[in-house]
Amino acid sequence: MRKPLIAGNWKMNKTVSESVEFAREFVGKVSDVNDRDILICPPFTSLYAMREIFKDTGVKLGAQNMYYKDSGAYTGEISPLMLKDVGCDYVILGHSERRHIFGEDDNLINEKVVAAVSHGLIPILCVGELLEDREAGKTFDVVGNQLERGLKGISSKDNFVVAYEPVWAIGTGKTATPELAEEVHSFLREKLASLFGKEKAETVRILYGGSVKPENVNGLMAMKNIDGALVGGASLKVDSFVKIVKFGR
Ligand code: PGA
Repeated sequence: MRKPLIAGNWKMNKTVSESVEFAREFVGKVSDVNDRDILICPPFTSLYAMREIFKDTGVKLGAQNMYYKDSGAYTGEISPLMLKDVGCDYVILGHSERRHIFGEDDNLINEKVVAAVSHGLIPILCVGELLEDREAGKTFDVVGNQLERGLKGISSKDNFVVAYEPVWAIGTGKTATPELAEEVHSFLREKLASLFGKEKAETVRILYGGSVKPENVNGLMAMKNIDGALVGGASLKVDSFVKIVKFGR
């Protein structure tokens, strides 16, 4: 059985004091949740302060990006060692905003995935097609290639998470229907089976992301191959994120 993972991706939102205020209120409201994993990925600047609040709670911390080197002359970058040190368990890699706004390609993302795993961070590798890819019938090609290239050098013993985020559904209010998402999730699981074996593929969590809200989370989570959600906009308010965390209750 795969334990569901509900992850909040705050993107470039919230100051330290806003993050702390959220975290204090949030931990009180999810203290009764233990049958699913909860993760928040705030901006780097909020990690240290939030670590103190999440200590001794079940809520985990993650980062939204990192560079793959341990240290050195890489102005403006953050390393896996730094993320571990500040209390991260997870790191989102290859998010579509990194790919499309900042020009990250599969090779760079793969270097990051390998570095995360080697430092004991759990990478959440994001894949997803553009609207034009979908309209051209290229969805499986695009996400299949992103998955295979992103996971090069990773073995079946490594711990990683995959997130399917159709780019046309991110921040647009347009969610993929549960059936449409499930079609891609089940394709991704087959692809994982071809890369790592069926047994490993059955244990990997594949999250859906793109306009997940309290109103649509239950339908998505009812699908066999959807094991959680990567939530942007709706993770910024305590009440809506708590409702998503408590899906199905
Ligand atoms: P959204 O973002 O929920 O605001 O669509 C999801 C994401 O980009 O991770």
